[in-house]
Amino acid sequence: MPDKRVSEILKGARGEAARAKLSADLEQVRVKYLGRQGLLTQFLRSLPSIPASERPEAGRQANEAKAEIEALLGQRLAELRGAERRRELESQRVDLTVPGRRPPMGTLHPLTLVQDEIIEIFQGLGFAVAEGPEVESDFYNFEALNIPKDHPARDMQDTFYLAEDVLLRTHTSPVQIRTMKAQPPPVRIICPGKVYRRDADITHSPMFHQVEGLAVDMSISMGDLKGTLELFAREMFGPRTTIRFRPSFFPFTEPSAEVDMRCFLCGGEGCRVCKQSGWLEILGSGMVHPQVLSNVGYDPEEVTGWAFGMGVERIAMLKYGIDDIRLFFDNDLRFLTQFA
Ligand code: FA5
Ligand code: MG
Repeated sequence: MPDKRVSEILKGARGEAARAKLSADLEQVRVKYLGRQGLLTQFLRSLPSIPASERPEAGRQANEAKAEIEALLGQRLAELRGAERRRELESQRVDLTVPGRRPPMGTLHPLTLVQDEIIEIFQGLGFAVAEGPEVESDFYNFEALNIPKDHPARDMQDTFYLAEDVLLRTHTSPVQIRTMKAQPPPVRIICPGKVYRRDADITHSPMFHQVEGLAVDMSISMGDLKGTLELFAREMFGPRTTIRFRPSFFPFTEPSAEVDMRCFLCGGEGCRVCKQSGWLEILGSGMVHPQVLSNVGYDPEEVTGWAFGMGVERIAMLKYGIDDIRLFFDNDLRFLTQFA
């Protein structure tokens, strides 16, 4: 015959275990019935005080009840933990069908694009790429290019000096000297790179890019220069491009010419970009001065050559119709991403 106290305890524990919603609630049920001060624990402790005739049966039932409650709590705990885990996973559900976020892709700078295109055109004509330092000596930037210290042509390029004879190169022409000093003729190179001048307005920047060209061989003529540059202009800007050769002066070429292109903005009418002239200067050029050939150890009786130095920003402005050179250096993504 079941002990009344044990069945009361058992009933209570079953009911509370069934009603528990969280695994934490179950722990309270365990403490209430099986803890050190728990109801069943207390009952077991009180066994010695009940009559000896009832004691064995009451003890057996109490121990059975303890085993049942332990098993019940274990089972409910597993159920509740499982449900809690499912709820947790559900709340953190990852929707694998949501499209991924694309990381923003960079684009090449328009000046890089134009410089690469210039290089590609000349590589197609058999020119190799040469490079030189941006921090240059007075000798390579001026002296060897037939521009002695007191020469008024030094005023043509306002120079950043770092020390007495050390400067930021004002043009890519020193690479001509470095290349010719390092190898015998024939030479056919282009030299892209940064150059620096104290110069700033809508068509001039204190740091800008040039691509130098140099061809030295037996019987190279001014006609070759014209033909090469005309071909370049048509490749770069299309077959109906208008350029003009305008006599000019550089100490390191004789004769010298500057090349202008029709202004993209006004089409030749005259505007603020072309300073009302209708033309935009893109490069300087000429036949390499015999003195320069001698300076690098070449024999001017034996070889002739031509050279040019073009402004990459100017070419890019003409190509894309950009009316202010400073846009290239403002790093405004709205501008830069248009050239992808
Ligand atoms: C020279 O720098 C000569 N070294 C070019 C040369 C090379 C002549 C070989 C003969 C033989 P010039 O100073 O004109 O020349 O500059 C050449 C080109 O660079 C210009 O036509 C122009 O397109 C560009 N340029 C000059 N100054 C600036 C500037 N501040 N900002 C942007 N582009 C410039
Ligand atoms: Mg010039």
